[in-house]
Order: sequence, then structure tokens, then C-alpha cells
Amino acid sequence: MCGIVGVIGKADATQVLLNGLSKLEYRGYDSAGLYVNDGQGQDHLIKRVGRISALTAAVDGSVHGVMGIGHTRWATNGKPTVANAHPHVSSDERFYLVHNGVITNAAALRAKYLSNVAFASETDTEVVVQLVAAFARDGLAARAAFAKTLGLLEGSYAFALADRTDANHLYVAKNKSPLLIGKGEGFNVVASDALAMLKETDQFVELNDGELVTLTKDTIAITDAAGRPVDRAPITVKIDAGDAEKGPFPYYMLKEITEQPAVMRRLLSRYVDADAKPQFDAALLKALASADRLYIVAAGTSYHAGLVGQSLFEQLAGVPTQAALASEFGYHMPLLSAKPMFIFLTQSGETADIRQVLVNVKAAGYPTLTLTNVITSTLAREADYAVDLAAGPEIAVASTKAYTAQVAVEALLAAALGQFKQVPAAAKSDVAHALSLAAAGQQALIDQQAKLHALATALFAKTRNAFFIGRGTDYFVSLEAALKLKEISYVQAEGFAAGELKHGTIALIEQDTPVVAFITDPKTAARTRSNAEEVEARGAKVLRIAAASLAQPEDQLIVDDLPALLTPLLTIIPGQLLAYFTSLDRGYDVDRPRNLAKSVTVE
Ligand code: F6R
Repeated sequence: MCGIVGVIGKADATQVLLNGLSKLEYRGYDSAGLYVNDGQGQDHLIKRVGRISALTAAVDGSVHGVMGIGHTRWATNGKPTVANAHPHVSSDERFYLVHNGVITNAAALRAKYLSNVAFASETDTEVVVQLVAAFARDGLAARAAFAKTLGLLEGSYAFALADRTDANHLYVAKNKSPLLIGKGEGFNVVASDALAMLKETDQFVELNDGELVTLTKDTIAITDAAGRPVDRAPITVKIDAGDAEKGPFPYYMLKEITEQPAVMRRLLSRYVDADAKPQFDAALLKALASADRLYIVAAGTSYHAGLVGQSLFEQLAGVPTQAALASEFGYHMPLLSAKPMFIFLTQSGETADIRQVLVNVKAAGYPTLTLTNVITSTLAREADYAVDLAAGPEIAVASTKAYTAQVAVEALLAAALGQFKQVPAAAKSDVAHALSLAAAGQQALIDQQAKLHALATALFAKTRNAFFIGRGTDYFVSLEAALKLKEISYVQAEGFAAGELKHGTIALIEQDTPVVAFITDPKTAARTRSNAEEVEARGAKVLRIAAASLAQPEDQLIVDDLPALLTPLLTIIPGQLLAYFTSLDRGYDVDRPRNLAKSVTVE
């Protein structure tokens, strides 16, 4: 959803920007651009449609700078064209601006202040840079012109602004979109995500909404929305830069799928004590125990993990729990219970749909917890409590290891809460043991890649549509497996509650329609098997994925046995790998599916 970078005080500013952008490409990849200034009167603006590689190819040895800004775009306002690519430049060619977010009152501002200015693009961002230039022409200094502009804006933004007449300053501002300052020795950098600048520094200064920052190569001057100076020390971001590399894997998605057993073990060492009991902050458990209902608010894959969490919290902690789609919940809130607590489940910690719910429920005074893979993210900082999913950087657009980390952390937290409340089911559960079994079971499935590739080819090579069916947690996995197939291989896939098929959807089954049936719950196995037979009788090609203790001769893939609520940790692995190999067979860019971006910072 657009990524921005900036640098000041580096002789190789162009390279710093290009490296940074390549790490942010997961945020959008419609077009990219950079502006650099060498402080000696030479500057360059280069923009290209397409990937960062197209921008890199366009940068020749003459493009030097000591200061600059860069952008990779996921189009919101205006098509992906060179004109709409960032950086945007004011008509007098003084100011250059990169932006992540959406300015909702851009048209009104343009009509009010800029009726005599000729525009080069269709973007909201150009309105902002033209406003800065107009206020500067009226006599304001660059920073004051920027501050005045910010005061007029509605919507979300992370901005980096360069002034061609002054290579010693860079201006940065944030509201609702992520942005960090990286502090170096004799230089400073700016990025939407620390990953982009880990090569330069591990010292990052977090910014709050409404703050404006003036950077020189040696100083970071922050002011709040009222213009008061803010003193904030940097934090150390401990991500191994190697974790964000693809290594020997052809795609990040495959790397991240194969990391899942290691993530399970990491979570055990992080959240389980020597007596195999899950441990979390006592204040957090107290807050959760005081709630009469939990709401798990999430989107996409994280919502699917939230559905599993709903059952986990109800059964292990005895608390009524509702998983909700953030984009719906925020605007159509159900009647809340007397003492609700909100759990925001989010890989990126930046999803705008979730944030609008957080802002509303915080304003209403309800307690909040964010479970996220990016502990420096906006949603982590803004909630009362935050728990790290500890899955390591997830770069592929299709979420894999974050999903299993979410399910595992929900299980650990639900068990810890159950123990805290002395719920008998929690005392009986051994989530730690189940997670170590899950790690081994995941590895066994990952080791069957050749078989899963053959199954993917047989099932999905030519199809336009597909179905995934199951009951209970197998249904929740069906939703997630279908989403994986849709987003990276563009097969129209539906996850379905197996018993619902006969109420309408079975009409879509034709000769050779692929159907994947998940069968892991002894309570419903026989019924799901009947549903599989019903579609088979109508011509469907059925792949049955079953738990070992329920296996039948017709099952083509067996997963280890786990407690029913935790089987998604295993069954999703073939779901992920089937999608991966289908995308590969069809020749698509697995990591960067069309129309998508990793971190969705617009509503
Ligand atoms: C799909 C996927 C998305 C995200 C969704 C929420 O593979 O990754 O559906 O799950 O955009 O993102 P987060 O979890 O970052 O809030």
C-alpha cells in the first residue's frame, strides 16, 4: 500500500533509496520513483511504471545525491502511469514529495487554493506538494509552508518532502500511515518499515500521528501537532537483516511456508515456562479475565485465524468470543456486551480497516490488545497491550507463517487465560505439547512438496474454479485455503461449510470441478465424508485431507493427529502449498500477485 524512503547525509543516497525500495516492494509494485540532490546544484527525478527493477535499470552512474526520497506505489488515486508515480513535484520545480496514504479533501483544497496551478497528475499527492510550493511563494519558509499545508489535510499520510534549494534538510510527517526515522552516524533515514533501512541502522525513532520532523544529517527535530518540540529516544529494532532475504528459495512464500515449524518452536520458547505453562503479562490476563466478551477484529487471512481463535477462547478460557471483519465491524457495530475487550489480530499492525475500529473503541474507553507480527507498528503502539507473533518478517504478499503464528498465540493466550480463571478445560489442555507436535507435523507435510505439487497440477492446472469444504475448524481452514488459491493463482475458489453445499452451491459442481475436503474432527468426519461423496457423484475431482486416526483408503493426504481446535496448524500447510504450486505452474509472480499489496493502509 505504497512504501516511502528518504535519506540525508549519505554520499550514496541513490543506492540507499534503491535498496530501501526493494525491501518495501511488498507494499506496492505498480510504479516507483526517486528524487536525489547532490547539494552541488545537480538533482535528478526518475520515475518508472512497474517494479523497482525498472527504476533501478533507469538509474545510471550520473544519478548521484547526498539527500533524496523514494517511493513504490500501489495505486489509489489515478492509474499506474509515470505521471501518477511519485515523487510528485510542484510546478515551480522547487518541492518534491512522496506519500503513503489518501488525502480525502484534496479536490476541495485544489479548488480553494490552486485554481490557477497546472497539474501534471491525477493524484491527491500533487495537490499537497503544490500547496507547499504556493505557501512558500507567499513568503513562508519551507518548514512553515509544509506545516501550514499539513494543518489543512484530511485523511492519512506518511510524507517525505525535499526542497531542491536546500539539500541540508528533509521534512517528514505522519498521520495514520506508518513511518519511522532511522538514526545513523552523520546521516538519517526515513522509511515506512524498518526493514527497508536495516542495512543502514538498527536505531529507529517512532513517530506519532500529527508529528512533523525536520531532518539534517546530524539532527532529528520532532514537533507535535501543536508545534511543541518532542524529545524521543530511538529504539533498537532487532531484526536480523538476513531474515528479510530470500536465501536459496525461489520465492519468499516458499521460504515462509517452510519456516512455520521453527516459528512454532520460537513461540514455545517465548511464551511457555519451564513447567510447560503458557505465560503472559499478568496485567493483560487480568484485563482479559475482567471482560464478559472478547471481540477479535481482523481482516483477510488474519480474520480466518480469528475464527479459530473464537473457538479457542470460548473453549479454553470459557469466555464468549466473536471474530469480526474489521471493515464491517467499524461501521455496523453489533450490540456490545457490558464489559467487552477488543483483540486486534494483524500481521502488519497497520491495516486501516482495523485501526478505525481501534480508534473508536478506545474513544469509548474499552480495553484493547493487539496481536501482531510487527511490534513497532501503529496498532501495537496504540492498543493498551501488545503481544508479538514473533513469526519474523513476512515478505510474500500471501500470508502464511503469520496465520499459523496467530493461531498458536491465540491458543497459548486462551490457555493462559483459562488457567488464570481456573477453567477446567484449560487445566486439562496441554497447548505447549500440542504446539510441539504441530511443529513436527508441519515439517512432515513440508517434506511432501513433490507430492503436493503433483496434486496441485492434477487438481488445479486448468480449472477456473475450486471448492474447499470442511466443518468446524476444518471450515475455517477451508476459507483460508480458498483465499490462498484465489490471491496467488487467480482461480475462483470458495471455502464452504461442508453441510451447506447441498443448500445451493452444489449446483456449481460439474465434471472435474476440484473439491478439497478437510476431515480432522471425529465428531463430523462421517458427515463431511458424505458431503465429499455427494460432490464426487456429480463429477467433482475430490482431494481428501484427513487426520491420521480418521484415515480411510480414499484419503490422499494424511496429517498428524492434534486436538481439534489446533488442526488448522497442520491442514493449512497443504492449503498453502497447493496454492503455491498452482501459481508456479501458471507462471505467475507468486510473491507479488496482481492488484494486491502486503500492508493495506487504506479503508
Ligand atoms: C492474505 C493476506 C491478507 C491480510 C489482510 C490483513 O494472504 O495477507 O488477507 O491477512 O490484508 O492484514 P493484516 O494481518 O496485516 O492486518
